[in-house]
Amino acid sequence: MSPIKVGLLGFGVVGSGTYSVLTRNAEEIARRAGRSIEIVRVATRTPAKAKSVFGEALPVDNDLAGLVSDPEIDIVIELIGGETLAREMVMLAIANGKHVVTANKALLARYGNEIFAAASKQGVMVAFEAAVAGGIPIIKAIREGLTANRIQWVAGIINGTTNFILSEMRQRGLPFETVLAEAQRLGYAEADPTFDIEGVDAAHKLTLLASLAFGIRVQFDKAYIEGIINLEQEDIVHAERLGYRIKLLGITKRRPDGIELRVHPALVPAQKLLANVEGAMNAVVVKGDAIGETLYYGAGAGAEPTASAVVADLVDVTRLHTTDPGHRVPHLAFQPNALADINILPISEIRTSYYLRFLVEDRPGVLADVTRILADKSISISAMVQEQKTEGAAVIIILTHEAREGDVNQAIHQIETLGFVHSSVTRIRMENLS
Ligand code: HSE
Repeated sequence: MSPIKVGLLGFGVVGSGTYSVLTRNAEEIARRAGRSIEIVRVATRTPAKAKSVFGEALPVDNDLAGLVSDPEIDIVIELIGGETLAREMVMLAIANGKHVVTANKALLARYGNEIFAAASKQGVMVAFEAAVAGGIPIIKAIREGLTANRIQWVAGIINGTTNFILSEMRQRGLPFETVLAEAQRLGYAEADPTFDIEGVDAAHKLTLLASLAFGIRVQFDKAYIEGIINLEQEDIVHAERLGYRIKLLGITKRRPDGIELRVHPALVPAQKLLANVEGAMNAVVVKGDAIGETLYYGAGAGAEPTASAVVADLVDVTRLHTTDPGHRVPHLAFQPNALADINILPISEIRTSYYLRFLVEDRPGVLADVTRILADKSISISAMVQEQKTEGAAVIIILTHEAREGDVNQAIHQIETLGFVHSSVTRIRMENLS
């Protein structure tokens, strides 16, 4: 059979990794796909690097629209990133009847509904394994491997940069800025690293996982996002002493009154597998009613790990290219006309447990007043530590049982107004993952 023809948009870290993997493993990939997969044209805004690799072997230019309109091309790989031009090119490729493979989580988290609707109408596939957790086949697992289950929750470390930063801060006591610079040098960070450290990149990925797990439309605008920029070394140390590690988690949970969709730092018990995922590695735990908890672990960023997912998508598309579009796996795991309209809960309505730290005058009655405020809001304490700071001043750390966030916020506000409390209350959520 003749090769399937691929056009590559973008030739950065993942683009060149994709070319390397596809070339190195060409024979095995063809045996799996049923035919060869051939990159026949490359377009990038800055073609110099691609030109130096391909020379005269392939057309390489900056005509992105020309590539997505090229009648010879069956599949477009979108690796230019960003939202504006990428959206335009993906929509044009779909309109031209091309299948699309993309690693662009930001694009799908924001415009996925429009993109999947257009693709369904045109009968083309939009595959995005590389958009979530790099090389880990988490999309395939949720969309196909776990289809028997009613999924209850998904929780994961889905940003390598922040996990690398938190690991280095904990293990080597290094400051945040030093480790961020190192992550950028190693190529883990997004072009705009604020997407990593503010939790936006993880929220893009979590939004897609929530849609796949619960069969809901893509709703990035409803996600609660809190990054690691305000995290203090002191809390990493306290967490460690209490038997926890702080991780930036993406969590989505089915609740009776809606779905939780949230990204934030969280204390995770140190003995949990997720707490032991270090460096730029990613891991996702999925809890289904039939299977229980399953864990997926691997490289979440980098050239060839991400290329592994891109090429897997290329093989899938190649295998299914000639099938009836109505019989293909739906983009979001559920049939488009069967997506549910379930409410995403505001952060004040989520339920979890909490770590609270604040500074008080060390005198009689202080703890009694604090615990009364918590009791009045039905917030139950699971552990408490007092540490002498200076003469007459102490740090109090309280761990709570599960409580409603809105109640915890009100309690924090009341604690902060007590005359003997000399700092704001640092609040970090805790996830026992059980
Ligand atoms: N910046 C991302 C990360 C790259 O650090 O995980 C992969 O999406």
